[in-house]
Amino acid sequence: MGVENQFPFEIVDVEQDLNKKLLKYFTGEYTGFVRVGPKKYFFPQKYKQEAANIYNMPLRPTDVFVTSYPRSGTTWTQELVWMVANDLDYETSNAIPLTERYPFLEFSICVHPENEVKFREENSHNEENLKILEFVCQPGTDQLAAIPTRRFIKSHMPLSLLPPTLLDTCKMVYVARDPRDVAVSFYHLNRLMRTQGYIGDFKTFWNFFIQDLHHWTPYFEHLKEAWDKRDNPNMLFFFYEELSKDLPRAVRRVAKFFGKQFTDEQVDRLCDHLSIDNFKNNKAVNYEVMKIVGIQIPGEQSFIRKGKSGGWRDYFDEEMTQQAEQWIADNLRDTDLRFPHLEI
Ligand code: A3P
Repeated sequence: MGVENQFPFEIVDVEQDLNKKLLKYFTGEYTGFVRVGPKKYFFPQKYKQEAANIYNMPLRPTDVFVTSYPRSGTTWTQELVWMVANDLDYETSNAIPLTERYPFLEFSICVHPENEVKFREENSHNEENLKILEFVCQPGTDQLAAIPTRRFIKSHMPLSLLPPTLLDTCKMVYVARDPRDVAVSFYHLNRLMRTQGYIGDFKTFWNFFIQDLHHWTPYFEHLKEAWDKRDNPNMLFFFYEELSKDLPRAVRRVAKFFGKQFTDEQVDRLCDHLSIDNFKNNKAVNYEVMKIVGIQIPGEQSFIRKGKSGGWRDYFDEEMTQQAEQWIADNLRDTDLRFPHLEI
């Protein structure tokens, strides 16, 4: 390994018995999982191939990262950020899917080689689909290197696994959400995507989530890393619940971050574009490509789901509710991170 592609953290395979158990529930993974570095970030084994490339990816001062723990409102934030940074270019936003406008830095680690072969076989009759599949499965660093214009990057990587000079070089918008709503939303996505292929019930999923046995966990470490940088001029940190409560304010914050000024009418129109009802029907933001190539299981469910806060109550029994409260309290003890909607 050359000096320029060094990776400072240890990557350790998950213990055999636990790995076996996890593979039974996550049928989209065939080999197993790893933990990374002192915080033990959890990933499918294919992360080993990408870790150094992601950590050392060349950055450009104009790059814009939108990052989060999955299901925290990333897509919503991505569209908001893209629209603001591109002077409200509705035409391009409607014409070019978000997946093309924002390469997903590490998605390829979720596509196990066996699944990639399967997806290719299933799409072998359709050249167009094969091209989409190739793009989707290509490492994000390769996709990004080929982009000649300003780059918008989606990632769920915690800051410590991204290039260490990131916030000295370019901008990042980070969005966080109540972990109970995150878990419910991620559970549904894990059942919807064949790359994950989750077949257990919610309670089991929740227990994996709080035991840091799910992709991109530990959840609170992820948030705290970004929260600790919230005053960096290149970082904009907000909560899903803030977007839900006052979207125009969030739009203005993003506009200020990018040095843009909009009239009240422009802000209103953007908020309408970003409303959950319009979003649900907007094919450009609904991850249509996943349906087209068959990674998403066909059916009623879509990538953009309910778009509400507090829906977790329908999924948690009394025991889980108390467990969640305790878990949140334990994890907030050593930090000034607070969820605005949980403050009294
Ligand atoms: P739910 O599953 O709770 O509905 P991500 O983009 O990070 O994967 O997050 C997805 C979550 O954000 C989903 O939550 C999705 O419905 C919600 N979401 C996406 N667009 C939204 C919008 N315009 N308004 C409100 N919520 C939105």
